This record gives sequence, C-alpha cells and structure tokens, in this order.
Amino acid sequence: MQISEHAPAKINLALHVTGQRDDGYHLLDTLVVFTEAGDTVSAQSADADSFAIIGSFAGTLQAESDNLVLRARDLMRRLQPDLPPVALVLDKALPIASGVGGGSADAAATLRALMRLMRRPFDDEQVHVAALELGADVPMCLAARPQRVQGIGEKLTPVSGLPALHLVLVNPGVGVATPGVFKALHSKHNAPLPPLPQNPDFAILIDWLNATRNDLQPAAIALVADIGRALAAIEAQGAALARMSGSGATCFGLFASAAQAEDAARRIASTSPSWYVKATQTL
Ligand code: C5P
Repeated sequence: MQISEHAPAKINLALHVTGQRDDGYHLLDTLVVFTEAGDTVSAQSADADSFAIIGSFAGTLQAESDNLVLRARDLMRRLQPDLPPVALVLDKALPIASGVGGGSADAAATLRALMRLMRRPFDDEQVHVAALELGADVPMCLAARPQRVQGIGEKLTPVSGLPALHLVLVNPGVGVATPGVFKALHSKHNAPLPPLPQNPDFAILIDWLNATRNDLQPAAIALVADIGRALAAIEAQGAALARMSGSGATCFGLFASAAQAEDAARRIASTSPSWYVKATQTL
C-alpha cells in the first residue's frame, strides 16, 4: 500500500516575538495558515528502508540522515518499534530554508503517512508531543490547520472562521538560517497578538493584520536585502498585505481573489524569472 501525504506550506500571517526562554529559544505568538502549495511525502512498506528526493527543489537537498523526513521516520520507530521497513519519497516543491515550514512540514507529513501506514489514530498524543523534538514548527505542521501558536511552538489553539485566502508566495532564491535571524533581533519582548476578530471577512482580517507584524522581518531584511525586494514586488502588484513568513526569505501577498493573485504571480515571475513565485490558496 502506498500512502501520500501533502506537506502544505505554513504561512505565518502574523508573528510576534514575546520573550526568550533560559535555553535561548524564543517565545512566539503567531497566527498560521496552510496552503495548497506544498511538498508531498509518500510511504510504502518495503523489504528495507530507503529514501529518495524528487521534484523542483530536489537538487538543493541531500537524502542524508539529518533530513527531517528520516528523523521523523526514526522518531516514529522509537515510538512504534513495530514500524516495518519503509520506502519514503519526498517530492520537494517548496524552496529550502525559506520560512514556510519546508522541512518541518515534510517531517509532519512523514509522521502522518507512517501513522496511516500503521493504521494508528491521527490524534496520538504521544506523537504530537514527540514532534516538538524534530523542530519547533513540527507540531503546528502536524495539525496543518489555521491555528494560533504560542510558546516556542508547542501551544496550539485551533482558529476557525477565517476566510479563504488567495496568496502569492515569493522567494528571492536565498536560504535564510533561522538562528541568525533570531540573533539579529533588536527587541525580544513585544506585545502578544491583539484579540482575533470572530469570523472576520477579508477586509476585517486585513485590518487586524495591519495592526500586527512579523517581528522577524526587519532582522531578516537586514541580513538578506532581497527580502525587501520581494516585498516591494508584491506591494507593487496591489496586494492587500505583503509580509514575510517565519524567518524568511519567503514573502506572501494577500489578494482579494484568485484571479488577482494569479495575475500578480505572472507579472512578478516575468520581471524576476529566477525567483520562486506561486499563486495558491489556503486549505
Ligand atoms: O526548532 P527549529 O529547528 O525550527 O529551530 C531552529 C533554530 O531557530 C533553533 O535552534 C533556535 O536557534 C531558533 N529558534 C528560536 N526560537 C524558536 C524557534 C527557533 O530561537 N521559537
């Protein structure tokens, strides 16, 4: 039996840094959504473990033991020692080290695929708790639904009633190392997110988002000037909001309709053919 799991891109619509723990990890308050654009992980029982990477961004990744897909498989085998040998294939459609969950989304999709392969329930508390070991973003990617996320990524509150969002994702082709961005922060003790409106329509959500920030964005732009260029390109297309996701470098624009998002994506891609540009919508 072959199982395929979508590893949707995670978009931090807003991300406030609210403090820092003694171990150096930062406390966050973030609203995340997930998009149709994403990677795919497939899993199949086999005679021996194997792993292959295919897809547009396959060339930039090595199928080595520190790949989060293999770390997720090894974690699952520790939790469920009867996991059979498994052939894993990662179809890498998202840019690497880019603030949209990438490796974390892949790890979460691997956990979901292996749970399905073993016919284990999805809401296995032990798996959700252990997922944090793989990375702060893995628990939110495991749930893969709109959520407010606090702590370092372990405190998840589902959010319902958000409108469907039409986005353009733009990555200027530069990987950003997350620890460097956190280190470059000027202020680590900011206010949490303001209260989220109930069942906001697009205009009300945009108003709310305009009262929020991605606190990592100025630090990331200081390290990688192309992030500022990507944001300017999105703004020039009339996006209702242009912002960076996570620690970058992927930026997103929010548009009122799919047609507007697709037009904007076409124009940005034609001006900057080397960038990753993708029109998509929230799941
Ligand atoms: O957990 P993850 O592998 O995604 O984090 C990568 C690095 O980013 C951590 O080692 C840490 O330096 C930084 N980080 C942080 N606070 C967070 C998440 C990540 O300081 N909440």
